[in-house]
Amino acid sequence: MELKIYKDKNEVAQQFSDYFAELVKGKSNFHVALSGGSTPKIVFDVLASDYGDKIDWREIHFYWGDERCVAPTDDDSNYKMTLEHLFSKIEIPETNIHRILGENDPISEAMRYANLLEINLDRVEGTPQFDLVILGMGDDGHTASIFPHEIELWNAKDHCVVATHPDSGQKRVSINGEVINKAKEVAFLVTGSGKAEKVTAILEKGESYETYPASLVNPNSGKLIWFLDEDAASGLN
Ligand code: 6PG
Repeated sequence: MELKIYKDKNEVAQQFSDYFAELVKGKSNFHVALSGGSTPKIVFDVLASDYGDKIDWREIHFYWGDERCVAPTDDDSNYKMTLEHLFSKIEIPETNIHRILGENDPISEAMRYANLLEINLDRVEGTPQFDLVILGMGDDGHTASIFPHEIELWNAKDHCVVATHPDSGQKRVSINGEVINKAKEVAFLVTGSGKAEKVTAILEKGESYETYPASLVNPNSGKLIWFLDEDAASGLN
């Protein structure tokens, strides 16, 4: 596990973009699962502005670790956020974008997406393997859309599951823990003081850290990087 702490979310965005550009350099058919929420917005902006014409996007296939069960035109859509902050600014073939159809029935969409991953990705012991999974973390310690009140979904046998947001009741489609931990590489993008308590609990194995789904991220490959800003890391000793 690598811990990278930077001054603020701008520097995190810069450093992550450099890391991503280096990771995909010379690769073909690179499969990456994106995180959603608000943290990736600035990262995608920097990736597009600094590497838009430097990365061969034809070799990169984009998926999502989770999606809100809303239409792709909805402001809550992770796909819409990524379209606005990244895809609309780069030359990427439509066929390289494999979005979760948030507008469809969650259960059948989870099955469809799991099937798509099983077809498109190489498999390790039957589990689809991403080249990179990018994750965020909520103030409650959730990651992808595996929330503390449904932590059993982490070990679900289906590679994609249907989850429920604890406050809004919004349905989500999410990859499970096995798909996350079978990835060749996993990178956390976590910024802001609201995350500090859970970051400290998870990285220092503090009180009830195991109840936070983000604590279960432990890729078999061992390649796990936490990109943090000083605010998110403010509780670390
Ligand atoms: C989502 C995410 C989720 C996100 C965290 C952090 O769809 O909401 O994938 O896991 O990464 O909730 O969200 P923020 O970046 O908005 O704090």
